Amino acid sequence: MGTLTIFDHPLIQHKLSILRDKETGVKEFREIVSEIANLMCYEATRDLQIEEIEIETPVATAKCGRLAGKKLAIVPILRAGLGMVEGMLDLIPSAKVGHIGLYRDPETLQPVEYYCKLPPDIGQRDVFVVDPMLATGGSAAAAITFLKEHGCHHIRLMNIIAAPEGVEKVQSEHPDVDIYTAALDEKLNDHGYIVPGLGDAGDRIFGTK
Ligand code: PRP
Ligand code: URA
Repeated sequence: MGTLTIFDHPLIQHKLSILRDKETGVKEFREIVSEIANLMCYEATRDLQIEEIEIETPVATAKCGRLAGKKLAIVPILRAGLGMVEGMLDLIPSAKVGHIGLYRDPETLQPVEYYCKLPPDIGQRDVFVVDPMLATGGSAAAAITFLKEHGCHHIRLMNIIAAPEGVEKVQSEHPDVDIYTAALDEKLNDHGYIVPGLGDAGDRIFGTK
């Protein structure tokens, strides 16, 4: 079973409280989604492999660590996942970015795919799938299935708020995938929204409502 990690870092929790506030405007919301993604990326990349190398400093030879593991890819689930990309690229600038466009049908809550563009070598990369919200888990599970069909073996999922239903779906369909989130909320409401959640992440990032 993949792990579920809830980041309880005080800075992440503080920023999340601002995201949840219905009075927070679009500009601040977008900035904070990016800042949280940045902090989560720092925490989630702790286990990246490094190799020891020698560097000549102006004074002497220093043994240093340099990233040595597989190359990385960030795959946002459109639209809301886009809000997390820059914050992650700040820390892992050589990661490639793939895009998977999925929206939830408001009636069935099933994910509908409308766009996909992945780096050609995605199967050789370790992948971070990013989406602020894990609700029913339908979108994330579909995106991960799609990536596996493209040869990806090491996939992690990074959300800002997750519902228990979504965690359960991803863990049952993809037990090899580790999930990172800043909060595990109580439940979904009848419309598939996370309670208490933060509302519609895509609309709040892009100002579409
Ligand atoms: C939201 C969110 C996730 C999905 C989560 O996207 O960003 O992708 O819903 O719900 P699920 O876990 O039940 O699948 P939405 O479909 O609203 O599209 P948007 O990002 O374009 O607004
Ligand atoms: N998508 C969102 O943006 N918010 C929710 O609460 C659930 C799905």
